Order: sequence, then structure tokens, then C-alpha cells
Amino acid sequence: MTVHFIGAGPGAPDLLTIRGQKIISKCPVCLYAGSLIPEEILAYCPSSATIINTALLDLDGIIGECRNATNAGHDVARLHSGDLSIWSAMGEQIRRLKQAKIDVSITPGVPSFAAAAASVGTELTLPGLVQSVVLTRTQGRASVMPDNESLENFAKTGATLAIHLSIHNLKYVTNTLIPFYGTDCPVAIIYRASWPDQKIIIGVLSTIQNKVSEKIDRTAIILVGACLNDDGFKNSRLYASDYDRRFRPKPAQKGTKP
Ligand SMILES: C[S@@+](CC[C@H](N)C(=O)[O-])C[C@H]1O[C@@H](n2cnc3c(N)ncnc32)[C@H](O)[C@@H]1O
Repeated sequence: MTVHFIGAGPGAPDLLTIRGQKIISKCPVCLYAGSLIPEEILAYCPSSATIINTALLDLDGIIGECRNATNAGHDVARLHSGDLSIWSAMGEQIRRLKQAKIDVSITPGVPSFAAAAASVGTELTLPGLVQSVVLTRTQGRASVMPDNESLENFAKTGATLAIHLSIHNLKYVTNTLIPFYGTDCPVAIIYRASWPDQKIIIGVLSTIQNKVSEKIDRTAIILVGACLNDDGFKNSRLYASDYDRRFRPKPAQKGTKP
């Protein structure tokens, strides 16, 4: 029997992968991580499935539910929001399941930073402007940031920043970034990307704080960087007419042998 970890995507039910949907529809037990998993995704569970909200459980409780299910011969669908590779608490669950000799599988999901970028219609890496994205957060109650991973250190790179779990620290974020990115650097706050009540707030580092109401709570991403400007970047070489690439060789020049 297997506990199947599934990234359920950022919110819109049709952003769940087909693989994830198929697994959910076959598992007699589903554990899901609270309000960030939409009802429509839980509706893929078999009608007889046991469906448990793990927001009310601690790690021992979650592992206990997995043990009970697998001992009873049931596979488990374990749903987390977005993708599993970032801030999903999957690591500690897998460690315990492996110790208990319970098999696991992992099905990735659409991460919220990608949904947020889609919502504001931008590519986060633009030629000649920025070629890296930092997925980060600020310190929270439950998580201490390692010393080298300060916002200042990431800001020194000038990369596009996708700052998670930090909307309550917006003032700290903007104050920290202004010396590196400048007051006019564009910022987008995307609240509940891809959900029906999604909200987008666009501004620059010096003004964004005044535009955000208290209703924008933790389910928001802060995107920072020049990629949010409409223009000012180059075309990539990939589609340049004179670029010789493996699957589209450069045409032979006139007068030269093929
Ligand atoms: C515990 S982390 C989960 C991240 C998730 N594993 C992912 O792949 O995006 C929760 C944080 O992700 C961000 N987040 C998750 N879903 C979001 C959404 N639909 N829109 C904007 N931000 C979201 C917020 O920063 C939120 O505080």
C-alpha cells in the first residue's frame, strides 16, 4: 500500500495534473492540507472515500492516519497545495513513512509562484534583464531563516524574487529591498492566484504598502523585479533567424555548398 503525495496546484481545480486526478479517484483515503485545497478537487475522491482535513492534526496524527489506512489495505492520496517541492512539509512526512516501511509516491503540482506569474502575464526570466528567480520567504513563527538566506543576500543578485509566506511582513520586505532594487522597482502582489477571488495589486517598492488592504492575508505571493515592466528586454537568441540550432539548422548561404 502506498501514500501518494500529490501537488494539488494553486487553487483552480483544472490546474490539478491528470496524473494527480487519476490517483485521487482511486484512493479510498484522502488526507488534504486545509482550506487551500478546493472542494472540486476533493470531489474526485471515490464517493465512499474517507476524507480528512489535516489542518487539525499534528505530524503524529497524520502519520497515524496513514498507518491506519495502509494497515487496512488502503492507498492514501495526500494532497498539498501548489507543488510538493517547496514549503509542503512533505519531507518530514516521508521520513516518518519510510521509517514505518510505508511506500510513497510523489506527483508534482503547479506551484503558486507560476500561477502568480501567469496571473500578471509575465515571464520571470527575460533576456538581457534577469535570468534567475529566487523562491524565498521571510522568517515566520515556525521557521527560522538560515543566516545566508537573508533577503539582503538574495537582493544583491538582482534576480526576480518570488516571496512567499510574507505578506504580513510587507513593510520589512520593501524597506529591505529598496536599497538594492530602487524605489521604482515594480512589485506585484497576487492574492489567491487562480482562485475565483484572486486579487492583483501592482505598484513599485515605495508605494505598494499603501495599496494593500488588511484583507490580503497569507495566501499571497510578492513578485519583485524588472521583469514586471512591460518592456526593456531583448529577444532571446533561441528564435533569432540567424541562430543555428540543432532542430532548425541555419540555412546555407547563397553560393556555398550545402
Ligand atoms: C505553505 S506555502 C505552500 C507553497 C506551495 N507548496 C507552492 O507550491 O506554492 C503557502 C504560501 O504559498 C503561497 N501561495 C499558495 N497558494 C497561493 C495562491 N493560490 N496564490 C498566491 N500565493 C499562494 C503564499 O505565499 C502562501 O503563504
